[in-house]
Amino acid sequence: MGICYDSDKQIFSLTTRDTLYQMQLGPVGHLLHLYYGPKTDCCFDYLQLDRDCGFSPNPYDHQEGRGWSLDTKAQEYSSQHAGDYRVCSLSLETDAGLSGTDLRYVNYKVFNHKYEISGMPSAFGKAQSLSITLADAATGVEVELLYGVFEKENVITRAVRVKNAGTSVVTIEKAASACLDLPFGGWQLLHFHGRHTMERAMERRSLMNGIQTVSSTRGASSHQHNPFVILCQPETTEDFGECYGMMLVYSGNHRTDIELDQSGSVRAVMGIHDDGFRWTLNPGEVFETPEVLMTFTDKGLTSLSQTYHKFIQHHICRSRFALERRPVLLNSWEAAYMDISEGKLLSIAKGAKDLGVELFVIDDGWFGQRDDDFRSLGDWFPNKKKFPGGLTPTLQKIRDLGLKVGLWVEPEMVNEDSGLYRAHPDWALTVPGRNPTMSRSQLVLDMSRADVVDWLYETLSTLLRENPIDYIKWDMNRNLADVYSRALPAARQGEVSHRFVLGYYDLMERLTREFPDVLFEGCAGGGGRFDAGVLAYSPQIWCSDNTDPIARLTIQHGTSFGYPIACMGSHVSASPNHQTGRSTPLHTRSTVAMAGTFGYELDPAALTEEEKETVRAQIARFHELQDLIREGDYYRLSDGSAWELVSEDKKEALLSFVLVDPTSNPKPNHIRLKGLVPEARYRVAWADFGGKASLPHEESRTFTGTALMRGGYTLPILFGDYPAVQILFKQI
Ligand code: DGJ
Repeated sequence: MGICYDSDKQIFSLTTRDTLYQMQLGPVGHLLHLYYGPKTDCCFDYLQLDRDCGFSPNPYDHQEGRGWSLDTKAQEYSSQHAGDYRVCSLSLETDAGLSGTDLRYVNYKVFNHKYEISGMPSAFGKAQSLSITLADAATGVEVELLYGVFEKENVITRAVRVKNAGTSVVTIEKAASACLDLPFGGWQLLHFHGRHTMERAMERRSLMNGIQTVSSTRGASSHQHNPFVILCQPETTEDFGECYGMMLVYSGNHRTDIELDQSGSVRAVMGIHDDGFRWTLNPGEVFETPEVLMTFTDKGLTSLSQTYHKFIQHHICRSRFALERRPVLLNSWEAAYMDISEGKLLSIAKGAKDLGVELFVIDDGWFGQRDDDFRSLGDWFPNKKKFPGGLTPTLQKIRDLGLKVGLWVEPEMVNEDSGLYRAHPDWALTVPGRNPTMSRSQLVLDMSRADVVDWLYETLSTLLRENPIDYIKWDMNRNLADVYSRALPAARQGEVSHRFVLGYYDLMERLTREFPDVLFEGCAGGGGRFDAGVLAYSPQIWCSDNTDPIARLTIQHGTSFGYPIACMGSHVSASPNHQTGRSTPLHTRSTVAMAGTFGYELDPAALTEEEKETVRAQIARFHELQDLIREGDYYRLSDGSAWELVSEDKKEALLSFVLVDPTSNPKPNHIRLKGLVPEARYRVAWADFGGKASLPHEESRTFTGTALMRGGYTLPILFGDYPAVQILFKQI
């Protein structure tokens, strides 16, 4: 039973296969947090000590002993202005000027299914749900805390419904999705930061006293800070030690505050960013927060990551493609940028087909007057100059080559120089009386408006209905600014950023429902919106605009802490690389792209005959490995340059390694594998060094899993610029 309530002790226990989450009602109805950690039979109510801590005030009903304070108690959902001076979860004000809440227990319910959140994606599948309602008497606000218990997956989801059950109008200024209080400190924070073309670098640091924040106010989850954090012990490694993960299923402004308080305890509060956020709740109305996916393990960071990988693939990604083989694609962007025409595209497509590519994607530049990035976003009809006969015949000709067809769109945006903007200038987010902030010469459409979302739905669904399209690359190339909607009254302007995200989800929901056979790939200037909300609709996201394989090692390594590699769009591009100018071997580029969805981003005509042969072999290799890559358990073996995929039955293990710093008189590269069956015997099925080295006599040697995991495997000396190796071990 995943959810139990002990009515004598007033303790709620949520159990998953390996974890226990425990909370208790305090004497006058506060919901206190007791424990989240390894599964045990213990009852942790003894941890709720009363302690008279100077200047930590007492609720009126607890004033006798002076030791009972919300400022020191671990809680499930921290309130504001009621004596807890740490980070609050909820902040609101009534039209009578009352602010703050003192939340007390009302009731609880258990459901044998997973709760849903209206208008936003959330985890699905076999789960139990617990709803605990708390209420604040003064404001009439009710807070329903939702817990989803995915027992065998070791995941607990959380979300919150705030209801105005009173008679005043309530303005919510902050409504976090989850608050996690850890009663003792010593935790370190792992977060994933970056910038355009260098996303999600992992940073690990000890907590400072006070508050540290991971956030985005960009209207998207952002290149800069991913809505995902890990708290771990200083001694936690990839293979050992305690760690908690919190991941927000949300694609807009987000904020996670981690506070190390005066008592040495830690509070993590995660949810929509409160900067500029104000939501009006009339009597009877309900506001729902996005969901947080929480997990705990004492088996180290790899185990935590693998939990998220499987969970996202099986309980977040709704697309049928999530668990299916994906086509090897070639995208026209770095092959031709916007300099495209039917003739040019057909010649690239023919070249792609000859290499074994399965899906040809026409990127930016096919619509309106789009010859550069100054115009035409919003005009989603074919460029007559480039496609005199229309788009459909071109797409059909590509289909006739035996290829699937993909198209790039950037629906949430508009250029001033476009028919759409000229017809509907009020559809862009701009502040009246102020020149708008420009980014890539484009404006953001007001997706908080139902008429804008309806228009986009009509436009895109017509495009998909009337054309043979198998794949859509959905881009978003700027962040929000001038967040003002002409369709909402003054008092509701603080709702626009969140309504924008709801509009995006509504559009994705309608399109993916109507076109389940179209594969959607998310993108936002690469990885500027790489989150579980987007993954609910698009089972893959273009991981970064940086296609340099060496830079990608860091980006994909950081991304892998929370997200499966089956969701990371990764392509082989030309060398020297267009973003960094670095030259790398073709084999290294494909080795790195195979830690992702795999595809190409180059002009086949620019390849030599020998390179073409190599590409054909790479594609054949990807087909051989595709299931292992998509479904296998992923292990980081280093800080990015070595990784391993092990099949579920542990019969196959693919080791990949890139040498990033060749030296003279090099030390051997010695790698210890992971995740094998200790007593089973493995042999090297093949080793691919890109033709530059070989493994003599390896066919006849066998190793036990223990040998490979304890003793490790020594690679031959690698030489030259960024060589890579892939080795497939097979059980015999
Ligand atoms: C940014 C994307 O990440 C690129 O791959 C490409 O699609 C361009 N936008 C097109 O404008």
